[in-house]
Amino acid sequence: MIILGIESSCDETGCAIVQKNKIGIKILSNVVASSAKLQEKFGGVIPEQAAREQIKSIIPVIEEALKEAKLEPENIDAIAVTYGPGLIGSLLVGVETAKILAKVWNKPLIPVNHLLGHFYANWIGDNPIFPAIGLLISGGHTDLILFQDHNKFEYLGGTRDDAAGECFDKCARLLNLPYPGGPNLAKLAEKGNPKTFSLPRPMISSKDFDFSFSGLKTAVANLLTEKGSLPPKELADLAASIEQSIIDVLVKKAIKAAQTYNIDQIIVAGGVAANQTLQHDLRFKIHDLGMKTALFIPPLELCTDNAAMIATAALFINKPIDLFNLQVDPNLFIDNSTNQL
Ligand code: KG4
Ligand code: ZN
Repeated sequence: MIILGIESSCDETGCAIVQKNKIGIKILSNVVASSAKLQEKFGGVIPEQAAREQIKSIIPVIEEALKEAKLEPENIDAIAVTYGPGLIGSLLVGVETAKILAKVWNKPLIPVNHLLGHFYANWIGDNPIFPAIGLLISGGHTDLILFQDHNKFEYLGGTRDDAAGECFDKCARLLNLPYPGGPNLAKLAEKGNPKTFSLPRPMISSKDFDFSFSGLKTAVANLLTEKGSLPPKELADLAASIEQSIIDVLVKKAIKAAQTYNIDQIIVAGGVAANQTLQHDLRFKIHDLGMKTALFIPPLELCTDNAAMIATAALFINKPIDLFNLQVDPNLFIDNSTNQL
């Protein structure tokens, strides 16, 4: 089975060709064009501009993916595409292109929920088993999910305001760090002491599986107003303290979910999964508590948005749709009633 996946939910235009064989999942090509240089200039994603960049990139990216995989359209068994959530203009570029290709090449079209898609980066090079606790930590989402199977899950909780990645990005802006905020804050944090500033760990002890990160961002803003500009060493200490606050909450709640439901697998997904301190702390905590939990984290380059995860998701949940029935859904989320990709 060979699937061509398309991802265009935000500022990355991705096309990947992925094959499932007896051994597992093989990436035949994985092309990502990013308009990050533009976002760097403007300090963030401007939806209209991101959509225009998607239009420029989509066809060259698909052509490149086919070329890299040394395949022709007739070798493709199906097309998978992200249909939400995301920026409407960006999503439309990917979905409409996928529809046209499905029609012209006469292939089945498989819609993929971007949020669930992120988890499937873990099936590339590894083979997580169910049941599993899923921790999704991206720029727009922070969710805990109990997966019983590929298409069977229960939503446990999520952020009530800012997502973990969003908190990284907003705090990075407060520290005047360049876009993309998360990785730059993490880099600065390497030189700092996380114990320097006492910042809140919002909802860390709440009985539910919800999160809230906007108060942390406000605490950082207030601290900076109070202190004025910080010398480089203190700035690094503040970055490390912010990073640690976010990570402490994520680690505590993910472990609590695994303990509460007696689950031995934790699957992490989304851009923030690339954070090395998070990876270390999760591993450390599991070991420290003597848990026999297996931890799955995607390869670094597959944590952030890419089309390989979308194509892989479609390999496991192969639910084609009539192309005239496929609409983009910018507000798509994961809940117990939409158990489908
Ligand atoms: O999953 P993703 O690529 O896009 C969304 O679907 O949102 O996640 C992007 C988010 C951004 O907020 C970015 O700052 C964050 O992931 N991120 C990181 C790191 N790498 C990416 N946050 C902390 N540490 C990192 N190393
Ligand atoms: Zn994403």
